[in-house]
Amino acid sequence: MVNVTVGSGDVMDYVGPALVVAVPAGEAPLDEAAAGVDGALDGLLSRLRAEGEVKGKVGETTVLHTMGRLPVARVILVGIGDQDKLDVADLRRAAANAARAARKAGLSAFATTLYGTERHGASAAAQAQAEGTTMGLYRFDGYHKTDVGQVQEAQVLVDDQDRAAVEEGVRRGRELAAGVTLARDLINEPPNVLTPTELAHRARELAAAHGLEADVLDRAAMQELGMEALLGVAEGSDEPPAFIVLRYDGNAAQDAGNGVKPALVGKGITFDSGGISIKPAENMHHMKGDMGGAAAVLGAMRAIAGLKPNIAVTVLVPTTENLLGGRAQTPGDIVRALNGVTVEIINTDAEGRLVLADALSYAVREGLGPLVDVATLTGAASVALGPHYTGVFANDDAVADGVLAAATRAGEKMWRLPLDPAFEEQIKSDVADIKNSAGRQGGAITAAMFLQHFVDDKPWAHLDIAPTSWSDKDEGEQTKGGSGAAVRTLVAYVEGLAQAER
Ligand code: BES
Ligand code: MN
Ligand code: ZN
Repeated sequence: MVNVTVGSGDVMDYVGPALVVAVPAGEAPLDEAAAGVDGALDGLLSRLRAEGEVKGKVGETTVLHTMGRLPVARVILVGIGDQDKLDVADLRRAAANAARAARKAGLSAFATTLYGTERHGASAAAQAQAEGTTMGLYRFDGYHKTDVGQVQEAQVLVDDQDRAAVEEGVRRGRELAAGVTLARDLINEPPNVLTPTELAHRARELAAAHGLEADVLDRAAMQELGMEALLGVAEGSDEPPAFIVLRYDGNAAQDAGNGVKPALVGKGITFDSGGISIKPAENMHHMKGDMGGAAAVLGAMRAIAGLKPNIAVTVLVPTTENLLGGRAQTPGDIVRALNGVTVEIINTDAEGRLVLADALSYAVREGLGPLVDVATLTGAASVALGPHYTGVFANDDAVADGVLAAATRAGEKMWRLPLDPAFEEQIKSDVADIKNSAGRQGGAITAAMFLQHFVDDKPWAHLDIAPTSWSDKDEGEQTKGGSGAAVRTLVAYVEGLAQAER
């Protein structure tokens, strides 16, 4: 991960490989740093803008050599668009693209001026810099033979009077980006490396490094408890399943006596072949990312451990492969989940809701709530929402509103879809309480309806990140592969709960 730091001193005196300055769209005036650079380069910026070669569109980058006219070797211009529309998401995107431009130029370090402070304040602007820079430079390259270049240091240059706010913003941004980085790494790891056992191992390492409590239930412990829904999915695999529990102690604040004990539950299918109801071969390798929900809650826990909100948080990850060995679950099977609800297996590829059934039941048994589960649950969510929005379902408006408000603060796109008893009909089974597949219509909704059978009366939200957990291209702070979707929203949600406690 790139090291984002805060530096001070006059930007015009900065000595180094590159300095990033912001360029607004149209004829809007340049800020002091950009105007200074323009002056030192005999009006080159003004010329490029006048000629329309530099438009100042959000995230547009142009690399200029200073040819000895400034102590810095290069200036990277980054567009920030219309000043009066500039939002934090634009700042994040601009920072990401500027950082990637530095990497493309082969640089291992650069400095950036801080922009967007008039509208958003120094702290939020600095946080966006740290998040955008770190997320935009992310790359999963541990398996390549040759070492490709990477930016190691990014310095945010500030005036001394803003220093404390900027330090705080950068610190927050780094913690959040570290959570996203962890989530992306877990998603991108190949399934022969990231088995359920390895996922549990990494969760334990996370706990050890950040003062969290970790418990991992093995197959025998799950049998003892009666987690037949999760164990049924695991039957087709030789790799043992695991049930991971992490606890953050809330800085000793616990629940402040009002019973708010959030649990974050993440689907941890380390590879989803579909099982006996096997998936088509095309793009099946993407199903190494079917633990994106687990990655999101573990990534969130990484950031929570760093940011230390005053509220206890529990993370639960049911993890197994979904394969088709000789003992694999078959359509027609009936399993009994931890809470006693029986499920007829119609389609072994609807395995996510089965492992979540036991995890949500476990959370209820532990007296936790509100519950938020995160899962790459249905292709239907992508059909309904397209590739940019996470689907949100909730049995409680306060939780739904809390999650959606958190998503807005974090700059992640989420959209609520209905839960409605009218859909109950579709998941009724002739031979068990419910069935795990309800046909094509409203597939994301019927999956959420299924999960609702395991949350009792706890306030609960379900995030279907099938649309957003994987990115097909590098764009702004998004990078190809695992996206880390929902990490920053979960942290913002937990922080919101901690704040409400005060
Ligand atoms: N992991 C998949 C959902 C998925 C599909 C995530 C594509 C990301 C990209 C899930 O386990 C699944 O297979 N769901 C089925 C449910 C159906 C059998 C009821 C689906 O969406 O087709
Ligand atoms: Mn599946
Ligand atoms: Zn799946």
